[in-house]
Amino acid sequence: MPQRSARGAQAPLKILLLAAEVVPFAKTGGLADVTGSLPKAIRALGHDIRVGMPRYGRIRPDQFNLTRILEPFPVPMDDRTEPAELMQATLDGEVPVYLVENARYFDRDGIYMYPDDAERFIMFCRGVLEGVKRLGWQPDIIHCHDWHTALVPNWLKTIYADDPFFADTASVYTIHNLAYQGIFGHRVLEIAGIDEYGFIVHPDIMDLNEVVDFMARGIAFADVISTVSETYAREILTSEFGEKLDPLLRDRRDRLFGILNGIDVDEFNPATDRYLEVNYTLESLDLRVENKLSLQREAGLREDRRIPVVGIIARLTDQKGFDLITNIVEPMLQHLGAQFVVLGTGEQRYHDFFTDLTNRYAGQAGAFLTFNASLARRIYAGADVFLMPSRFEPCGLGQMIAMRYGSVPVVRAVGGLADTVRDYDPATGEGTGFVFKPYDAMALYTTLVRAVETYRYPDIWRKLQTRCMQQDFSWQASARKYVELYARAREFHARDRAAAQEKEAKDRAANRTQKGE
Ligand code: GLC
Repeated sequence: MPQRSARGAQAPLKILLLAAEVVPFAKTGGLADVTGSLPKAIRALGHDIRVGMPRYGRIRPDQFNLTRILEPFPVPMDDRTEPAELMQATLDGEVPVYLVENARYFDRDGIYMYPDDAERFIMFCRGVLEGVKRLGWQPDIIHCHDWHTALVPNWLKTIYADDPFFADTASVYTIHNLAYQGIFGHRVLEIAGIDEYGFIVHPDIMDLNEVVDFMARGIAFADVISTVSETYAREILTSEFGEKLDPLLRDRRDRLFGILNGIDVDEFNPATDRYLEVNYTLESLDLRVENKLSLQREAGLREDRRIPVVGIIARLTDQKGFDLITNIVEPMLQHLGAQFVVLGTGEQRYHDFFTDLTNRYAGQAGAFLTFNASLARRIYAGADVFLMPSRFEPCGLGQMIAMRYGSVPVVRAVGGLADTVRDYDPATGEGTGFVFKPYDAMALYTTLVRAVETYRYPDIWRKLQTRCMQQDFSWQASARKYVELYARAREFHARDRAAAQEKEAKDRAANRTQKGE
């Protein structure tokens, strides 16, 4: 099992990965894709990684083969204890997954958006920590994802700091989206058992000493912080992208790293994807058009192989650039002669907009205002152009999946989009898509003009598609980077602990001198 890397021998690590959503058990967004696929890649490098998540009511025991591994045990919550059980499943039979069960908090229809969410995720995280302790499985690393799990680094530096079981456990906190911070009132600190430590204070973040901001605590206390692309790691140090936490992030910039997400290339593979009309590869790219024709049928568009189909799959929010899209979609239909298909749910005003649009442009625009994973595959495989004009984008998975399926991306140069798509240059013939920079409807429109114009030259388009499909977006490279990051987190952890112990000893000595001992 132990792997030898170019850097020398590396002992297998024990890693506990915590997240509120993990594919295939529960998913609302890209976070779940990452937490469902990264562990498999880390396991493949020889490490003992295990996953912890809540057992939501919708995760059916029979469907996922859940087995109970811990009978009810007490989890400290507030001034009482709450019973939890631990269920176990696996990711593809390889990675153990621990699901924290407590009917009161988790046996509900949905995943988020309950008034007691803070309490629910405290219960989940504390339940896993107490659970692995009972199992006697001592992690070297706890890898937390987004605000739902962000109190864990805080706990490791406070209530668990002197617990021998977790003394050598380092924490890594990964930010998938800084815009969702998990902000609550003081009461939450009592529930989490850390009220004696109070608020965290920062001279440049006024509100921080009046609220409990889970995200901020993850950033402040983790041994290492990471985010999901190198560009986003730089962007969040600025006030434009920092969501008010940039001063804190700047303080900790020596601990902040960017690692680009991968995608599950076995799952997202046009050669084997069972949801497609026709499977295809680079060598049989001619077959792809069958998927386009079938998408046109499915979306109620005019069936015509020559008309460029522009697709988008996203939450219907401003983050994803829908305020720009609503400005340019009609001119695009009228003047560029393209077809348009959208899949996603979100803000009501966008639902209304697209319902109205498809009424007025029947046969040219189709809207699926729902969540549908198999239709998503058919859009990746059938659309010619894939649109992602995001206002900000920590990583973005859609553009990578689109490229793997031969759909050419039109993106704004932010975050992970900037790191994964290179602008097409007709002079050199290089590039993998069409990229614009200013957040501006005109910039998006002219970029779409370039894309649609290029589409009219089948040979050139074919080369562009081929380059897209040749990109390697597998987890391999990124999983290695995470393992290096884990090693770094352990170094920081050991160093900080030694420094804290030294300080404690000095303080004690100073006290003794003062008392004249
Ligand atoms: C969030 C981000 C997205 C990223 C995903 C997975 O959903 O908005 O950019 O790809 O997390 O990290």
